[in-house]
Amino acid sequence: MERSLTMELVRVTEAAALKSARWMGRGKKEEADDAATSAMRDVFDTIPMKGTVVIGEGEMDEAPMLYIGEKLGNGYGPRVDVAVDPLEGTNIVAQGTWNALAVIAIADHGALLHAPDMYMDKIAVGPEAVGKVDINASIADNLKAVAEAKNKDVEDVVAIVLNRKRHEGLIEEIRAAGARIKLIPDGDVAAAINTAFDHTGVDILFGSGGAPEGVLAAAALKCLGGEIQGKLLPANDEELERCKSMGIEDINKVLYMDDFCSGDDAIFAATGVTDGELLQGVQFKGTKATTQTIVMRAKSGTVRFIDGDHSLKKKPNLVIKP
Ligand code: FBP
Repeated sequence: MERSLTMELVRVTEAAALKSARWMGRGKKEEADDAATSAMRDVFDTIPMKGTVVIGEGEMDEAPMLYIGEKLGNGYGPRVDVAVDPLEGTNIVAQGTWNALAVIAIADHGALLHAPDMYMDKIAVGPEAVGKVDINASIADNLKAVAEAKNKDVEDVVAIVLNRKRHEGLIEEIRAAGARIKLIPDGDVAAAINTAFDHTGVDILFGSGGAPEGVLAAAALKCLGGEIQGKLLPANDEELERCKSMGIEDINKVLYMDDFCSGDDAIFAATGVTDGELLQGVQFKGTKATTQTIVMRAKSGTVRFIDGDHSLKKKPNLVIKP
């Protein structure tokens, strides 16, 4: 992949964040998502790549844009797989809470897991704990392993978990093992990424969330030297069949980093839509809007934080309010 694509992706996620942030707190998650999706779609046309969406807004018949299988880019340049979540945390934006992101990852053609849109059990850690956790081990053992790897007591470990009824047992187990918990309303991509940044105070992600979000988190953690493991959780026979049709025969198979994102390269970009531990959300300041983006590349290991100032005078379409 061309490394120049790195900066192009920043333009894509910035555009999505700027447009969807206009919907913050308005209680309209679909409108926020549509705004992000169409903004991303417009920028993609200008990018020199031959991309195919492997994770997107759904199947062709249910999503007008960024659907799975859609071709992206101007048709020149490298052939790449694209995983997009134009707005990761639609409810977060609707309510104006924390950690909504506009997210994209690309990798060489065929490198990204073609994950069905179903639940996936996940465990994710930052670089210090790579190779030390095991999704099939007990919660207590995984917490002990992270504590040891990070040279602290289990009581000091912070696990991040989506606040869902289905996680009641998991939460009890974490508490019984003595660790602390950060319960989040939504947004397990940001949660997984945060395990790789010490200052966020988060050590390990546990629990189930979307499988596509798992692939996006894996691309990010590949760039950051962290790790995610996953197990697909089909809810019925139809979802089971879907896994099989995508080549996943053994449903109990643990998905490791290479299953999520093979090869030695991936590029990941995320722009904050609302404020989070890692990225500030979009702010509108009268004549300009500001963005914060993380963009990184697995091959070089470069991680950049980019602050954007966007002129609302020169970009009148950013001034248009819902
Ligand atoms: P959306 O942006 O699609 O609303 O996803 C938000 C999210 O919290 C993800 O981060 C997470 O993987 C998934 O939803 C969890 O699903 P559910 O809300 O059904 O528990």
